[in-house]
Amino acid sequence: MLPHVIVHNEMSLDARMDRLEVDMGRFYALAGKWREDCTLVGSETLLAGMPELGDRGSAGALERRDTTGHQGGGASPDAPLLAAVDSRGRLPGLGQLRDQPYWRDVIALCSGATSADHLDRLGAAGVSSIVVGTERVDLRGALQALAEQYDVAVVRVDAGGSLVGALLRQGLVHEVSVVIEPRLVGGETHRWLVRAPDATPEDVVAMTLREMERFDDGAVWLRYDVV
Ligand SMILES: NC(=O)c1ccc[n+]([C@@H]2O[C@H](COP(=O)([O-])OP(=O)(O)OC[C@H]3O[C@@H](n4cnc5c(N)ncnc54)[C@H](OP(=O)(O)O)[C@@H]3O)[C@@H](O)[C@H]2O)c1
Repeated sequence: MLPHVIVHNEMSLDARMDRLEVDMGRFYALAGKWREDCTLVGSETLLAGMPELGDRGSAGALERRDTTGHQGGGASPDAPLLAAVDSRGRLPGLGQLRDQPYWRDVIALCSGATSADHLDRLGAAGVSSIVVGTERVDLRGALQALAEQYDVAVVRVDAGGSLVGALLRQGLVHEVSVVIEPRLVGGETHRWLVRAPDATPEDVVAMTLREMERFDDGAVWLRYDVV
């Protein structure tokens, strides 16, 4: 059975992910509602926050990027897994995240296009890989494998518009949770909540509102179920 998948993001009122001022404490407090078994992240998102993961030479532990208020010191056994989509092998330093306190372990989701060298490097760093799909990662197959091999029942997606868009269009998302910041940023970058450049009217995703909350700073949290 496929896991229950939640997309939890913060965006501007015009659905942009540029120039945000994310209240990380609030963002992760809301994210904690789901107590996910696995956090699903994309290569670009990881590199945006931790460019050192793309460095083939780096082997030491990362300086922790403390955005969550966790105290550190090693993850508890009930911490979630981190699964990183990376068909292109852009994250040779992924193993460094095994030292982080947020996740009990790290798994690379790769495809037939991922080089054997990269998979070997990950293996040497103690990172298990799931190889599904020919060119890109077969996202459905990856979720299935996480459920079957790691007992993952709940997945929280921490990704930008391209991975979120792909998951939504493949019907793999059950809930969408967004914190909307009271700002309009405009611009021409492609950093939208959902990117799906070739989407057709059939790809429109209908949702029903399940929960909402208003905050003193004018931000609003909305939680929707995908119909
Ligand atoms: N505001 C927020 O809440 C929030 C949250 C997370 C991230 N972000 C921001 O979002 C930005 C990155 O967003 P992004 O979407 O470009 O990057 P991303 O989240 O890293 O997603 C890209 C990853 O998804 C994979 N992918 C995309 N489409 C796919 C498909 N059809 N099939 C299989 N795999 C697919 C890519 O695969 P390949 O490996 O094949 O390239 C790549 O690994 C960053 O700037 C980050 O800071 C914002």
